[in-house]
Amino acid sequence: MKKKITILPGDGIGKEVTACGKKVLEQIAECFGHEFVFDYGQIGHEAIEATGTPLPDETLAKLKKSDAILFGAVGHPKYDNDPTLPVRPEQGLLKMRKELGLYANLRPIKLFDELLAASSIKPEILKGADILFFRELTGDVYFGERGRKNDNKTAYDTMIYSTYEVERIAHKAFKAAQTRRKKVTSVDKANVLESSRLWRAVVQEVAKQYPDVTVEHMFVDAAAMKLIQNPKSFDVVVTGNLFGDILTDEASQIAGSMGMLASASVGDTVGLYEPIHGSAHDITGKGIANPLASILSAALLLDISFGLQEEADTVIKAVERTLKEGYRTRDIADPSTAHEKILGTEVMGNVVSNQIRMIVSLPVEK
Ligand code: IPM
Ligand code: MN
Repeated sequence: MKKKITILPGDGIGKEVTACGKKVLEQIAECFGHEFVFDYGQIGHEAIEATGTPLPDETLAKLKKSDAILFGAVGHPKYDNDPTLPVRPEQGLLKMRKELGLYANLRPIKLFDELLAASSIKPEILKGADILFFRELTGDVYFGERGRKNDNKTAYDTMIYSTYEVERIAHKAFKAAQTRRKKVTSVDKANVLESSRLWRAVVQEVAKQYPDVTVEHMFVDAAAMKLIQNPKSFDVVVTGNLFGDILTDEASQIAGSMGMLASASVGDTVGLYEPIHGSAHDITGKGIANPLASILSAALLLDISFGLQEEADTVIKAVERTLKEGYRTRDIADPSTAHEKILGTEVMGNVVSNQIRMIVSLPVEK
């Protein structure tokens, strides 16, 4: 199979982790006889510095011609504490999602058994948890009208959803549930918000077309509590952009660390694959970031955009074996982890990559 993959390393640890994601894709290409052609694009703070805009037209044009995109992270501390800056790295990511029609963000939350001790949640509550989030990605308060009034003394953002936006993400969630444990939890705030009441009515309508799937509706505050109290009670969760952003960061603790969670953003055209973590400037350049979220994003890319199930499973198995052998990055190490098994970003990527070779019975690289 010949495919074109564009890598957008972005800012902070984005560069370090996407290098590992790419390494794994190259290894898969070699082991399974595919040809993946890689190209790079600029986005975020780096693109602002180079061109003045967080998503240059050149990058967007490249993305539209790609078969899949592997994205790192965007962000820079200089913007975080200066809300007056008009051009911001995150705008590049949001524009990319909108322009490419990436309305469905899949965030699978699954704990590798080896990491049971790495989470701050009790193992008996965690063991067996397996949740698939569908976060709506191109609507909500992220894209509604916003502004200032009253001489700049009042600011507003509009939470807005249209029926078609809820329908298309709901269908994706129900279809996925049919291949899993056949349960969808739709999360909203319909006791307060009008946009949530529309959301709930539309999900109820869509649910009628999937009689084999059980649907439940939950308010976001209750969902936030239940995720930690009883994560095993969830199968597929479908929710809006803002609630999904917050709940999936919370849910990352079920998987041990933010550094473990991959995501896929899909919609009308090319798929985008990215860790849910951010640019993490506090650890940038130290070579200690966990590359597994980027590597697992590469597995989602192989599966969803290219339909390469066996290759995707091989990547996941390689990660599993790496963890089973005791290798950890710092964020997922627990007190029992031997010092010499705590690896840096690049070495962790190499270990996973070599595991892939072992799984397909090729000699490992030195
Ligand atoms: C995410 C991130 C982004 C979001 C930021 C960087 C704009 O937190 O992908 O979850 O809020 O969607
Ligand atoms: Mn987020």
